[in-house]
Amino acid sequence: MKRIAIITSGGDSPGMNAAIRSVVRTAIFNNIECFGFYRGYQGIIENEYKKLEIRSVSKILGMGGTLLKSARSLDFHNADVREKAFDNLKALSIDALIVIGGNGSLTGASIFSDQFDFPVIGIPASIDNDVYGSDNSIGFHTSLDTIIDSVDKIRDTARSHNRLFFVEVMGRDSGNLALHSSVASGACYVIIPEKDFTIKGLANRLEEGNKLNKTSSIVIVAEGNKYGPSYKIAEDLSNIYSEYETKVTILGHLQRGGSPSCSDRILASKLGKAAIDALLDGEKHKMVGVIKNEIVLSDLKTVIDNKNGIDESLFYLNEIISR
Ligand code: F6P
Repeated sequence: MKRIAIITSGGDSPGMNAAIRSVVRTAIFNNIECFGFYRGYQGIIENEYKKLEIRSVSKILGMGGTLLKSARSLDFHNADVREKAFDNLKALSIDALIVIGGNGSLTGASIFSDQFDFPVIGIPASIDNDVYGSDNSIGFHTSLDTIIDSVDKIRDTARSHNRLFFVEVMGRDSGNLALHSSVASGACYVIIPEKDFTIKGLANRLEEGNKLNKTSSIVIVAEGNKYGPSYKIAEDLSNIYSEYETKVTILGHLQRGGSPSCSDRILASKLGKAAIDALLDGEKHKMVGVIKNEIVLSDLKTVIDNKNGIDESLFYLNEIISR
Protein backbone atom coordinates (compact mmCIF):
# COMPACT_ATOMS: atom_id res chain seq x y z
CA MET A 1 0.00 0.00 0.00
CA LYS A 2 1.90 3.01 -1.29
CA ARG A 3 -0.71 5.43 -2.65
CA ILE A 4 -4.35 5.96 -1.87
CA ALA A 5 -7.10 8.23 -3.16
CA ILE A 6 -9.76 9.88 -1.04
CA ILE A 7 -13.09 11.48 -1.95
CA THR A 8 -16.03 13.05 -0.17
CA SER A 9 -19.28 12.25 -1.94
CA GLY A 10 -23.04 12.95 -1.73
CA GLY A 11 -24.51 15.55 0.61
CA ASP A 12 -21.73 17.19 2.61
CA SER A 13 -21.85 16.84 6.38
CA PRO A 14 -20.01 18.66 9.18
CA GLY A 15 -16.96 16.63 10.14
CA MET A 16 -16.04 15.48 6.64
CA ASN A 17 -12.98 17.73 6.81
CA ALA A 18 -11.99 16.23 10.14
CA ALA A 19 -12.18 12.78 8.50
CA ILE A 20 -10.04 13.92 5.53
CA ARG A 21 -7.46 15.30 7.95
CA SER A 22 -7.33 12.08 9.91
CA VAL A 23 -7.03 9.89 6.79
CA VAL A 24 -4.28 12.04 5.29
CA ARG A 25 -2.20 12.29 8.44
CA THR A 26 -2.59 8.61 9.35
CA ALA A 27 -1.65 7.65 5.79
CA ILE A 28 1.47 9.82 5.82
CA PHE A 29 2.37 8.48 9.27
CA ASN A 30 2.39 5.04 7.63
CA ASN A 31 4.41 6.22 4.59
CA ILE A 32 1.39 6.14 2.29
CA GLU A 33 0.88 8.97 -0.20
CA CYS A 34 -2.59 10.44 -0.36
CA PHE A 35 -4.36 12.01 -3.35
CA GLY A 36 -7.62 13.91 -2.90
CA PHE A 37 -10.01 13.86 -5.86
CA TYR A 38 -12.49 16.71 -6.13
CA ARG A 39 -16.31 16.51 -6.25
CA GLY A 40 -16.53 12.86 -5.26
CA TYR A 41 -16.63 10.24 -8.02
CA GLN A 42 -16.96 13.00 -10.60
CA GLY A 43 -13.40 14.14 -9.84
CA ILE A 44 -12.05 10.63 -10.42
CA ILE A 45 -13.87 10.47 -13.76
CA GLU A 46 -12.51 13.88 -14.76
CA ASN A 47 -9.09 13.21 -13.23
CA GLU A 48 -9.17 16.30 -11.05
CA TYR A 49 -6.99 15.74 -8.00
CA LYS A 50 -4.39 17.15 -5.67
CA LYS A 51 -1.67 15.45 -3.67
CA LEU A 52 -2.44 16.00 0.01
CA GLU A 53 0.44 16.66 2.38
CA ILE A 54 0.46 17.09 6.15
CA ARG A 55 -0.02 20.87 5.82
CA SER A 56 -2.70 20.53 3.12
CA VAL A 57 -5.12 19.56 5.88
CA SER A 58 -4.13 22.22 8.42
CA LYS A 59 -6.91 24.43 9.84
CA ILE A 60 -9.78 22.31 8.48
CA LEU A 61 -10.63 20.32 11.64
CA GLY A 62 -13.26 22.82 12.73
CA MET A 63 -14.57 23.72 9.28
CA GLY A 64 -17.94 22.61 7.93
CA GLY A 65 -18.40 21.50 4.32
CA THR A 66 -15.60 19.64 2.59
CA LEU A 67 -12.21 20.78 1.37
CA LEU A 68 -12.47 18.25 -1.47
CA LYS A 69 -15.96 19.43 -2.46
CA SER A 70 -18.73 16.93 -3.08
CA ALA A 71 -21.20 15.83 -5.73
CA ARG A 72 -23.82 13.21 -6.47
CA SER A 73 -22.28 11.83 -9.67
CA LEU A 74 -24.89 10.44 -12.06
CA ASP A 75 -22.12 9.58 -14.56
CA PHE A 76 -20.74 7.07 -12.07
CA HIS A 77 -23.90 4.95 -12.47
CA ASN A 78 -22.58 4.00 -15.91
CA ALA A 79 -20.21 0.97 -15.94
CA ASP A 80 -18.15 2.35 -18.87
CA VAL A 81 -17.63 5.64 -17.06
CA ARG A 82 -16.53 3.73 -13.97
CA GLU A 83 -13.96 2.00 -16.21
CA LYS A 84 -12.58 5.43 -17.07
CA ALA A 85 -12.42 6.31 -13.37
CA PHE A 86 -10.58 3.06 -12.67
CA ASP A 87 -8.09 3.79 -15.48
CA ASN A 88 -7.41 7.22 -13.99
CA LEU A 89 -6.67 5.69 -10.59
CA LYS A 90 -4.42 3.04 -12.14
CA ALA A 91 -2.54 5.64 -14.22
CA LEU A 92 -1.67 7.36 -10.96
CA SER A 93 -0.70 4.00 -9.35
CA ILE A 94 -3.42 4.34 -6.72
CA ASP A 95 -3.69 1.16 -4.63
CA ALA A 96 -6.95 1.87 -2.79
CA LEU A 97 -9.81 4.34 -2.48
CA ILE A 98 -11.39 5.82 0.65
CA VAL A 99 -14.95 7.10 0.24
CA ILE A 100 -16.45 9.45 2.83
CA GLY A 101 -20.22 9.73 2.40
CA GLY A 102 -23.70 8.35 2.99
CA ASN A 103 -25.70 5.44 1.58
CA GLY A 104 -25.61 6.54 -2.09
CA SER A 105 -21.86 7.08 -2.00
CA LEU A 106 -21.25 3.78 -0.22
CA THR A 107 -23.36 2.02 -2.86
CA GLY A 108 -21.03 3.49 -5.48
CA ALA A 109 -18.08 2.31 -3.38
CA SER A 110 -19.40 -1.24 -3.23
CA ILE A 111 -20.15 -1.42 -6.97
CA PHE A 112 -16.75 0.04 -7.90
CA SER A 113 -14.89 -2.30 -5.57
CA ASP A 114 -16.76 -5.33 -6.99
CA GLN A 115 -16.38 -4.32 -10.63
CA PHE A 116 -12.58 -4.03 -10.49
CA ASP A 117 -11.76 -6.11 -7.41
CA PHE A 118 -10.25 -2.89 -6.08
CA PRO A 119 -9.76 -2.10 -2.37
CA VAL A 120 -12.31 0.46 -1.20
CA ILE A 121 -13.00 1.49 2.39
CA GLY A 122 -16.07 3.57 3.28
CA ILE A 123 -16.43 6.10 6.08
CA PRO A 124 -20.06 6.90 7.03
CA ALA A 125 -20.79 10.63 6.80
CA SER A 126 -24.36 11.89 6.58
CA ILE A 127 -26.51 14.13 8.72
CA ASP A 128 -29.34 11.58 8.18
CA ASN A 129 -27.72 8.93 10.42
CA ASP A 130 -29.23 6.18 8.30
CA VAL A 131 -26.01 4.31 7.46
CA TYR A 132 -25.99 0.74 8.78
CA GLY A 133 -22.85 -0.41 10.60
CA SER A 134 -22.21 2.61 12.81
CA ASP A 135 -24.19 4.00 15.74
CA ASN A 136 -23.61 7.48 14.31
CA SER A 137 -22.54 8.83 10.97
CA ILE A 138 -20.33 11.90 10.80
CA GLY A 139 -22.38 15.11 10.91
CA PHE A 140 -25.50 13.79 12.65
CA HIS A 141 -24.75 15.35 16.02
CA THR A 142 -23.72 18.71 14.61
CA SER A 143 -26.90 18.83 12.59
CA LEU A 144 -28.94 18.01 15.70
CA ASP A 145 -27.26 20.87 17.56
CA THR A 146 -28.18 23.23 14.71
CA ILE A 147 -31.79 22.03 14.73
CA ILE A 148 -32.08 22.39 18.51
CA ASP A 149 -30.65 25.91 18.37
CA SER A 150 -33.21 26.82 15.69
CA VAL A 151 -36.16 25.23 17.50
CA ASP A 152 -35.23 27.01 20.73
CA LYS A 153 -35.44 30.30 18.83
CA ILE A 154 -38.72 29.36 17.17
CA ARG A 155 -40.10 28.47 20.58
CA ASP A 156 -39.50 32.04 21.80
CA THR A 157 -41.80 33.43 19.15
CA ALA A 158 -44.26 30.51 19.41
CA ARG A 159 -44.72 31.24 23.12
CA SER A 160 -45.09 34.96 22.57
CA HIS A 161 -47.96 34.48 20.13
CA ASN A 162 -49.56 31.25 21.41
CA ARG A 163 -48.83 29.60 18.10
CA LEU A 164 -48.33 26.09 16.83
CA PHE A 165 -45.17 25.68 14.74
CA PHE A 166 -44.42 22.85 12.36
CA VAL A 167 -40.66 22.63 11.95
CA GLU A 168 -39.58 20.49 9.02
CA VAL A 169 -36.17 18.83 9.23
CA MET A 170 -34.08 16.87 6.72
CA GLY A 171 -33.30 13.18 6.82
CA ARG A 172 -34.52 11.95 3.45
CA ASP A 173 -36.50 8.75 4.25
CA SER A 174 -35.13 8.45 7.78
CA GLY A 175 -36.76 9.86 10.93
CA ASN A 176 -33.55 9.89 12.97
CA LEU A 177 -32.91 13.64 12.81
CA ALA A 178 -36.57 14.41 13.54
CA LEU A 179 -36.90 11.96 16.42
CA HIS A 180 -33.71 12.95 18.23
CA SER A 181 -34.33 16.65 17.74
CA SER A 182 -37.89 16.39 19.02
CA VAL A 183 -36.74 14.78 22.28
CA ALA A 184 -33.92 17.30 22.67
CA SER A 185 -36.09 20.34 21.90
CA GLY A 186 -39.19 19.28 23.85
CA ALA A 187 -41.43 19.16 20.76
CA CYS A 188 -44.90 17.88 21.65
CA TYR A 189 -45.18 15.68 18.59
CA VAL A 190 -42.97 14.19 15.89
CA ILE A 191 -44.02 12.96 12.46
CA ILE A 192 -41.59 10.44 10.97
CA PRO A 193 -41.70 7.91 8.11
CA GLU A 194 -41.24 4.96 10.48
CA LYS A 195 -44.46 5.63 12.44
CA ASP A 196 -48.10 5.82 11.39
CA PHE A 197 -49.54 9.30 11.51
CA THR A 198 -53.07 10.70 11.35
CA ILE A 199 -54.25 14.30 11.53
CA LYS A 200 -56.83 13.17 14.07
CA GLY A 201 -54.10 11.75 16.32
CA LEU A 202 -52.23 15.05 16.18
CA ALA A 203 -55.41 17.02 16.93
CA ASN A 204 -56.09 14.80 19.95
CA ARG A 205 -52.59 15.33 21.23
CA LEU A 206 -52.85 19.10 20.86
CA GLU A 207 -56.21 19.14 22.58
CA GLU A 208 -54.73 17.14 25.44
CA GLY A 209 -51.96 19.77 25.74
CA ASN A 210 -54.53 22.54 25.58
CA LYS A 211 -56.40 21.04 28.53
CA LEU A 212 -53.09 20.95 30.42
CA ASN A 213 -52.72 24.71 29.83
CA LYS A 214 -50.19 24.42 27.02
CA THR A 215 -50.31 27.69 25.13
CA SER A 216 -47.92 26.98 22.28
CA SER A 217 -46.54 23.87 20.65
CA ILE A 218 -43.80 22.65 18.37
CA VAL A 219 -44.27 19.70 16.02
CA ILE A 220 -41.17 18.33 14.29
CA VAL A 221 -41.85 16.96 10.82
CA ALA A 222 -39.40 14.67 9.03
CA GLU A 223 -39.17 15.67 5.37
CA GLY A 224 -39.61 12.01 4.38
CA ASN A 225 -42.80 11.42 6.38
CA LYS A 226 -45.43 9.46 4.49
CA TYR A 227 -48.31 11.94 4.95
CA GLY A 228 -46.96 14.87 2.96
CA PRO A 229 -45.27 18.27 3.15
CA SER A 230 -45.50 20.34 6.34
CA TYR A 231 -47.74 22.93 4.68
CA LYS A 232 -50.29 20.22 3.84
CA ILE A 233 -50.15 18.84 7.39
CA ALA A 234 -50.69 22.36 8.80
CA GLU A 235 -53.61 23.03 6.47
CA ASP A 236 -55.29 19.67 7.06
CA LEU A 237 -54.96 20.14 10.80
CA SER A 238 -56.47 23.62 10.67
CA ASN A 239 -59.52 22.11 8.97
CA ILE A 240 -60.32 19.95 11.98
CA TYR A 241 -58.59 21.76 14.86
CA SER A 242 -58.19 25.50 14.96
CA GLU A 243 -57.29 26.25 18.57
CA TYR A 244 -53.85 27.55 17.55
CA GLU A 245 -52.68 29.76 14.72
CA THR A 246 -50.23 27.57 12.78
CA LYS A 247 -46.92 28.46 11.15
CA VAL A 248 -44.45 26.35 9.17
CA THR A 249 -40.65 26.64 9.20
CA ILE A 250 -38.54 24.52 6.86
CA LEU A 251 -34.98 24.48 8.16
CA GLY A 252 -33.45 23.28 4.89
CA HIS A 253 -29.76 23.26 4.16
CA LEU A 254 -28.69 25.23 7.21
CA GLN A 255 -28.88 21.81 8.90
CA ARG A 256 -25.86 20.68 6.87
CA GLY A 257 -23.57 23.62 7.63
CA GLY A 258 -21.47 24.89 10.48
CA SER A 259 -18.47 23.90 12.49
CA PRO A 260 -18.57 20.22 13.51
CA SER A 261 -19.38 19.44 17.14
CA CYS A 262 -16.79 17.92 19.45
CA SER A 263 -18.35 14.45 19.09
CA ASP A 264 -18.33 14.66 15.27
CA ARG A 265 -14.69 15.76 15.24
CA ILE A 266 -13.74 12.82 17.45
CA LEU A 267 -15.84 10.33 15.48
CA ALA A 268 -14.37 11.55 12.18
CA SER A 269 -10.84 11.41 13.56
CA LYS A 270 -11.32 7.85 14.82
CA LEU A 271 -12.87 6.65 11.56
CA GLY A 272 -10.21 8.27 9.39
CA LYS A 273 -7.49 6.37 11.20
CA ALA A 274 -9.57 3.18 11.23
CA ALA A 275 -9.92 3.35 7.44
CA ILE A 276 -6.15 3.40 6.96
CA ASP A 277 -5.70 0.65 9.57
CA ALA A 278 -8.23 -1.46 7.64
CA LEU A 279 -6.29 -1.03 4.39
CA LEU A 280 -3.03 -1.91 6.13
CA ASP A 281 -4.73 -5.08 7.44
CA GLY A 282 -5.53 -6.04 3.85
CA GLU A 283 -9.27 -5.25 3.98
CA LYS A 284 -10.81 -4.56 0.57
CA HIS A 285 -14.55 -4.01 0.62
CA LYS A 286 -15.46 -2.64 4.02
CA MET A 287 -16.93 0.31 5.87
CA VAL A 288 -15.52 1.44 9.21
CA GLY A 289 -17.99 2.40 11.92
CA VAL A 290 -18.24 2.86 15.67
CA ILE A 291 -20.67 0.64 17.54
CA LYS A 292 -20.86 0.90 21.34
CA ASN A 293 -17.61 2.87 21.28
CA GLU A 294 -15.71 0.15 19.41
CA ILE A 295 -14.40 0.35 15.85
CA VAL A 296 -16.32 -2.16 13.74
CA LEU A 297 -15.72 -3.20 10.13
CA SER A 298 -18.77 -4.14 8.06
CA ASP A 299 -18.90 -5.54 4.56
CA LEU A 300 -19.98 -2.76 2.17
CA LYS A 301 -22.68 -4.99 0.71
CA THR A 302 -24.19 -5.55 4.17
CA VAL A 303 -24.06 -1.80 4.81
CA ILE A 304 -25.94 -0.87 1.66
CA ASP A 305 -28.49 -3.70 1.99
CA ASN A 306 -29.51 -2.46 5.43
CA LYS A 307 -30.44 0.77 7.11
CA ASN A 308 -29.81 2.34 10.50
CA GLY A 309 -33.34 2.47 11.88
CA ILE A 310 -34.81 4.63 14.62
CA ASP A 311 -34.55 4.10 18.34
CA GLU A 312 -38.21 3.28 19.07
CA SER A 313 -37.76 3.99 22.77
CA LEU A 314 -37.17 7.68 21.99
CA PHE A 315 -40.57 7.87 20.29
CA TYR A 316 -42.38 6.58 23.38
CA LEU A 317 -40.20 8.64 25.69
CA ASN A 318 -41.24 11.76 23.85
CA GLU A 319 -44.92 10.84 24.12
CA ILE A 320 -44.59 10.69 27.89
CA ILE A 321 -42.41 13.69 28.65
CA SER A 322 -43.51 16.26 26.08
CA ARG A 323 -46.93 17.04 27.51
O1 F6P B 1 -28.56 13.03 2.70
C1 F6P B 1 -28.35 14.28 3.24
C2 F6P B 1 -29.43 15.23 2.82
O2 F6P B 1 -29.18 16.50 3.43
C3 F6P B 1 -30.86 14.78 3.12
O3 F6P B 1 -31.24 14.96 4.45
C4 F6P B 1 -31.65 15.60 2.14
O4 F6P B 1 -32.86 14.98 1.82
C5 F6P B 1 -30.74 15.66 0.96
O5 F6P B 1 -29.41 15.41 1.43
C6 F6P B 1 -30.76 16.96 0.22
O6 F6P B 1 -29.92 16.84 -0.87
P1 F6P B 1 -29.47 18.05 -1.80
O7 F6P B 1 -28.49 18.88 -1.03
O8 F6P B 1 -28.86 17.41 -2.98
O9 F6P B 1 -30.72 18.84 -2.09
